[in-house]
Amino acid sequence: APYFLAAFLFGYLLGSIPFGLLLAKLAGLGDVRSIGSGNIGATNVLRTGRKDVAAATLLLDAGKGFAAVLIASQFGPGTAALAAIGALVGHCYPVWLKFKGGKGVATFLGVVLALSWPHALLFAVVWLVLAFALRYSSLAALVATLCVPLAAFLFPEGSFFGAFAIGEVTAIMVLIIWWKHRANIARLMRGEESKIGGSKAQSE
Ligand code: G3P
Repeated sequence: APYFLAAFLFGYLLGSIPFGLLLAKLAGLGDVRSIGSGNIGATNVLRTGRKDVAAATLLLDAGKGFAAVLIASQFGPGTAALAAIGALVGHCYPVWLKFKGGKGVATFLGVVLALSWPHALLFAVVWLVLAFALRYSSLAALVATLCVPLAAFLFPEGSFFGAFAIGEVTAIMVLIIWWKHRANIARLMRGEESKIGGSKAQSE
C-alpha cells in the first residue's frame, strides 16, 4: 500500500507540470488561461495561432504521462496503474494552479500508450478521424477516450496489464476527463462549441 501511494504521488507530481501554460509563457504568448476556452491544453494553445507551441504542448503533456507509467512499471503493474491515474489527476487538478488544470486528453494518450499500445492506437485513430471529420477537438476526445475502456471490456483478451485491467484503469480516467469536459458538452449540445481552426471559443 505505501508503494501504491508513492506511485500515485509520483504520477501526480509529473502530471501536474502545466506544459501548455509554461510553453505559451516562454513563447511570449501570455497566459493561455485568458484566451479561448481558458484551458491549458494543446487545443487551446492552438488558438494562439502557434501550431508549433500547441504541438509541443501535446507532446510534453502526453510525454509526462508516458514517463510516469514507464518508470512506475519497473516496480510492477500495480504501481504502473496508480501512477497512470496519478498523472491524469495531476494534470487535471494541479496543486500549483489551485487545482484548476487541464482536461486530460493528451495525458490520457501518454499513459495509455505506456500501459497498452494497441489501446493507444485505437484512441489516436478514433480521435484523428473524428477531429478531421467534425472539427471538434472536445467531441473527438469524448468519443475516443470512451472507446478505450469499451474496447477493453468487449475484447478482454490481451487487454490486461499484469494484475490490473486496462479497462478499469481507463474507465476511472474517462470519468474524470468527461467531468472536466462538462462545459464543452453543454456547448456541443447548444451548437456553440468552437471548431478546430475556427475563431469562436468561449472562456469557462
Ligand atoms: O483537450 C481538450 C479538448 O478536448 C477541449 O479543449 O480548449 O476546446 O476546451 P478546449
